[in-house]
Amino acid sequence: MCGIVGYIGKRQASPILLDGLSRLEYRGYDSAGIALLNGSATVNIIKRAGRIDNLRAAVAEVSHQGATGIAHTRWATHGAPTDENAHPHRDQSGKLVLVHNGVIENYQTLRDQLTAKGHSFESQTDTEVLAHLVGTYFDASDETDGPTRLRSAVQAALGKVKGTYGIAVLHGDVPGVIVGARLGSPLVVGLGEGEHYLASDVSAIVAHTRDVVYLNDHDIVSLSNDRFDVASMAGGAAQVKVSRVEFSADDAEKGDFPHYMLKEIYEQPQSLRNAMRGRLSRDEGTAILGGLNMTPQELRGIDRIILSGCGTAFHAAMVGEYVIETLARIPTEVEIASEFRYRNVPADKNTLQFVLSQSGETIDTLAALREARRKGIRCLGIVNSVGSTIARESDGGCYIHAGPEIGVAATKTFTSTVTMVTLLGMLFGRIHHLSSADGLEMIDELEAIPDKITSILKQADKIKAIAEKHANAEGMLFMGRQANYPVAMEGALKMKEISYIYASGHPSAELKHGIIALVKPDMPSVFIAPDDAVFDKNVSNIEEVLARKGPVIAVTTEGRTELERLTKDVIYVPDCPSYLSPLLTVIPLQLFSYYTAVARGCDVDKPRNLAKSVTVE
Ligand code: AGP
Ligand code: GLU
Repeated sequence: MCGIVGYIGKRQASPILLDGLSRLEYRGYDSAGIALLNGSATVNIIKRAGRIDNLRAAVAEVSHQGATGIAHTRWATHGAPTDENAHPHRDQSGKLVLVHNGVIENYQTLRDQLTAKGHSFESQTDTEVLAHLVGTYFDASDETDGPTRLRSAVQAALGKVKGTYGIAVLHGDVPGVIVGARLGSPLVVGLGEGEHYLASDVSAIVAHTRDVVYLNDHDIVSLSNDRFDVASMAGGAAQVKVSRVEFSADDAEKGDFPHYMLKEIYEQPQSLRNAMRGRLSRDEGTAILGGLNMTPQELRGIDRIILSGCGTAFHAAMVGEYVIETLARIPTEVEIASEFRYRNVPADKNTLQFVLSQSGETIDTLAALREARRKGIRCLGIVNSVGSTIARESDGGCYIHAGPEIGVAATKTFTSTVTMVTLLGMLFGRIHHLSSADGLEMIDELEAIPDKITSILKQADKIKAIAEKHANAEGMLFMGRQANYPVAMEGALKMKEISYIYASGHPSAELKHGIIALVKPDMPSVFIAPDDAVFDKNVSNIEEVLARKGPVIAVTTEGRTELERLTKDVIYVPDCPSYLSPLLTVIPLQLFSYYTAVARGCDVDKPRNLAKSVTVE
């Protein structure tokens, strides 16, 4: 979950590492730390609980130099977010220094064994145990070549470890080398001239280089100024491919917006155009998705689809179920990725699975992909992060091309992922029973969506006023039907994540089956009630809430002004076919949660306890 950055070259490492950490802070922000190795073989460590700014201030107070360094921003799994538990951690000798992303599951056993041998620990982390373990192998080795000795020690220690890791390791006696390794947590090598980088996410290093090598699970790498060597600890040759990062450091800046989340909400007209670009064929009246790597015959043979993801991606999958079943009539099931991996979901040879993930690194989603592939189910990825593990390990798939998403609360990647599953629905629909005229009509409707989103964004002031009015609510209920039921869940998730108001999303009709017991004056209900076949049903549910003195906020279609008789808080979205409605109705909910969080003084981009990419179970 955390961020790792490493640098080895001729420049001072400290500013590069701090800048990289700032760019990774969204991945974990419980504490941060840095280790610098200077020419005199001293490793200096500075680490602080809290945000990167605390670390930056501490680094400014000392004058540690070093052209080799590793740094870390933590999302605590073992031990409170304190200075002591912050990474980097040292071994018993104090010379070996390590940062780690992931979880060492057998750390307690290893800690007991090392304690019995006289080791003493400064922190409660699993990571420090790994540092000590690597140190024991290093100290016991009679290898004379320093870099080989360090790399062998890392490999030997990792052979004793159960769990997941992305690590970077330095040793004071081995200047001029950083060793990295990964299993289950991402790691990427950045290639420069006379310098190399190591990072858990390319955004940490893209300001310096766009040429990168994504490491695979079981890879171990040694970096020096002028070379990098990757090998697979699993045996066999490592696959080393240099990739070019598509985005620049500027794409990951927030510009004039006060928060990344707001910037990303406003990017949606463009990110949706990017998701559709080159994928809609007017000649053929269908979607063209070459990345699926499947022939029309193979696609035609599919009679069941499984969609898996976590959090917002799970909600996008739920919209996908509705859209694919509506457009293509193919039975579609949504499996929360974390459940799929431990269930034994039946699937025959005509089942096609998709895993949906912004980061392409979510461990549960990755595990669902691996479980599917282990069973021989063809599994494709719908992913934002180019070169991510899910993108590389899936049998094919589509990038959503939303660009970097930094706000911890996913916004533009929800709408872009929904766009992709809609294109899938269209593709499968056209293969089965939709005509090219139907396809053309859908293309027209899809292409109109970005401008419609722009018109919703123009209502930001009104949505802000509604948010401020309800900002002290004790809780919130979100209600929707059909494709807007997952939008209700997504609206509730956004509200919980960034404003800390308890919220839950439900199918509107479930109200009377229990939820209505919660209705009271400080528990507003947000109804997503566009002008569709179930509009009147939603209106009845709104009446039921109002009858019990529950405030109602309604999202409906322009023209359905009758809702203003029931509540003052009505937000309008443009008309569209009901299968596209989530792409519009979610926008006011994103803004609503954003302005609620701002009104409550919350840290919108870095909500408490969360991290952008969840690479631990
Ligand atoms: C969304 O706002 C959340 N931060 C979270 O639920 C997220 O969607 C989930 O962790 C899945 O992430 P992924 O899309 O990167 O796999
Ligand atoms: N398990 C380690 C810890 O709690 C690493 C957590 C992380 O990935 O940030 O310190």
